Amino acid sequence: MIKEKILVIGASGQIGVELTLALRKIYGEKNVVASDLREENPLLTGTGPYVALDVMNKEMLHVQVIRQGITQIYLLAAILSATGEKNPSLAWHLNMQSLLNVLDIAKEENLHKVYWPSSIAVFGPTSPRKNCPQKTIIEPITVYGISKYAGEFWCNYYAHKYGIDVRSLRYPGLISYKSAPGGGTTDYAIEIFHEALEENSYNCFLNSDTYLPMMYMPDAIRATIELMEAPAEKITTRTSYNIAAMSFSPAEIGIEIEKHIPGFKISYEPDYRQQIADSWPQSIDDTVARNDWGWNPAFDLSAMTTDMFANIRKS
Ligand SMILES: NC(=O)c1ccc[n+]([C@@H]2O[C@H](COP(=O)([O-])OP(=O)(O)OC[C@H]3O[C@@H](n4cnc5c(N)ncnc54)[C@H](O)[C@@H]3O)[C@@H](O)[C@H]2O)c1
Repeated sequence: MIKEKILVIGASGQIGVELTLALRKIYGEKNVVASDLREENPLLTGTGPYVALDVMNKEMLHVQVIRQGITQIYLLAAILSATGEKNPSLAWHLNMQSLLNVLDIAKEENLHKVYWPSSIAVFGPTSPRKNCPQKTIIEPITVYGISKYAGEFWCNYYAHKYGIDVRSLRYPGLISYKSAPGGGTTDYAIEIFHEALEENSYNCFLNSDTYLPMMYMPDAIRATIELMEAPAEKITTRTSYNIAAMSFSPAEIGIEIEKHIPGFKISYEPDYRQQIADSWPQSIDDTVARNDWGWNPAFDLSAMTTDMFANIRKS
């Protein structure tokens, strides 16, 4: 078996923490180097190596890749949808340049694999709203969506032109209890659990009937690892794969939460994030991912809600 040494960039974030821990279980603690611009997330402390790294500094990134003998990079650093709308040029700059830096270094150092997530935010108001297919009209209206769509084509370009084994998933909104969300439009679906326990109520920044595609973090981590471990010949999509697990509205998750927290009340005060949410599909068709590498989600809304409460109460 080829020995792999993995660099996770953006490891202190919502996905980074859980992905780093999962990769360390598979590849061994020392073989997964966590890195981030901010300090090491306390959940990672003592679980393996950590380096402070700005992915925008290509020279430093290159030095680390050589010094650590890196063979794979998982690039998670990004500015997310809601934060991106507040600072579009910064979001574009970070989301694009970080990817180009990583792809260039992957080419120069012959890295075995690169992982870079895209998002359902690539879709826009002209995409089909229900069961949005892998290939369809894609006209994003957020800078985040534009950067993800452009990034998908850079991945495709480096894969076909230079033979880089770069793989990608279009994550839906991700729900987790371990580390805090990073400024996305679907963050309400995490906040609601914490406020249900603390306040018995939640004031939602989206309307009651805003259906969005969502996924529980354990499914997202498993999808990522299954995609990355699939034989290269199974990967037919080098832009980014649609993946799906569940779709629900704030009203529906409110009803589910009330089963665990009797008397729970949800109110609605939509803000600028409503417009972003309204531009995205309500549900996603992930047939291609299912057929190519066997994707199959484990958690629906009810199973996720039970697991979220069990884990938040423990912590
Ligand atoms: N969380 C979701 O619901 C979701 C949905 C779709 C796609 N994604 C994508 O998944 C990836 C990870 O998302 P997340 O939710 O974990 O985001 P996050 O904001 O929680 O984490 C991103 C991390 O990147 C780090 N970072 C920022 N700039 C950096 C730089 N210059 N150098 C090094 N590190 C830097 C941040 O400090 C942060 O810890 C992103 O590409 C995001 O677009 C996330």
